Amino acid sequence: MNYEKRKTVIAGNWKMNKLPSETYDYIKEVASKTENAKCEVVACVPFVNLCAAVEAAKGTHVKIGAENLHFMPSGAFTGEVSAAMLKDLGVEYVIIGHSERRQYFAETDVTVNKKIAAALEAGLKPIVCVGELLEQREQGITKEIVSMQTKIAFAGIDKSAFSSIVIAYEPVWAIGTGKTATSDQAEEVCKIIRDVLCELYDEETAEGTTIQYGGSMNAKNAKELLEKYDVDGGLIGGASLRSDDFATIVKAAE
Ligand code: 13P
Repeated sequence: MNYEKRKTVIAGNWKMNKLPSETYDYIKEVASKTENAKCEVVACVPFVNLCAAVEAAKGTHVKIGAENLHFMPSGAFTGEVSAAMLKDLGVEYVIIGHSERRQYFAETDVTVNKKIAAALEAGLKPIVCVGELLEQREQGITKEIVSMQTKIAFAGIDKSAFSSIVIAYEPVWAIGTGKTATSDQAEEVCKIIRDVLCELYDEETAEGTTIQYGGSMNAKNAKELLEKYDVDGGLIGGASLRSDDFATIVKAAE
């Protein structure tokens, strides 16, 4: 982390967990347990939980995010949700290109790029996920994969947008497996992403952008990961569902 250059962001990704009826109280619990947080605290929740989450977060420091959106502004896309709809609800962040979306819902680097543009257009802050599969790491092509994902994701995106963009490095093999990347592995790839931003834009943009690590981050390993210079926060799945664990991670970011 580097507090002077960029914001530290600890974001929960609930995935398909917790009921709408559980959401209000849980967000209140997170808000009270992270009350003195020095970093940005975000909860990304299922679409149907957003209303309750936004309501509960009012007047607190907790920001609410969605887990996905559609890239079209409106139209005949049954079952989909637009950026403008999220903005209208009071949502601030949106996760884009999570590996589960890529793996199970056929999202590609190109749709990720369209979704980032749509989110920015509506005034939402994208949390853009990139990361390699286990076999890609074993083949020694992590750098190539992550660089390509980053380059395609931000094609045509102006550097002025980076004040509201967060990137999450999530090695797919570390998600939900309990197998965390070592802090050196996390640092190495976050640095690769920062170097790509420098190449695409400039050093100021690269140094000013928040790059999180995600993948089995928990109350025990968070501190070591967050101590790394290029790791500016976490995108947390499982551990974000337990308020004590999530609060411990927020504390570790101090
Ligand atoms: P876990 O923390 O459960 O491994 O999930 C990470 C993740 O995918 C966050 O987006």
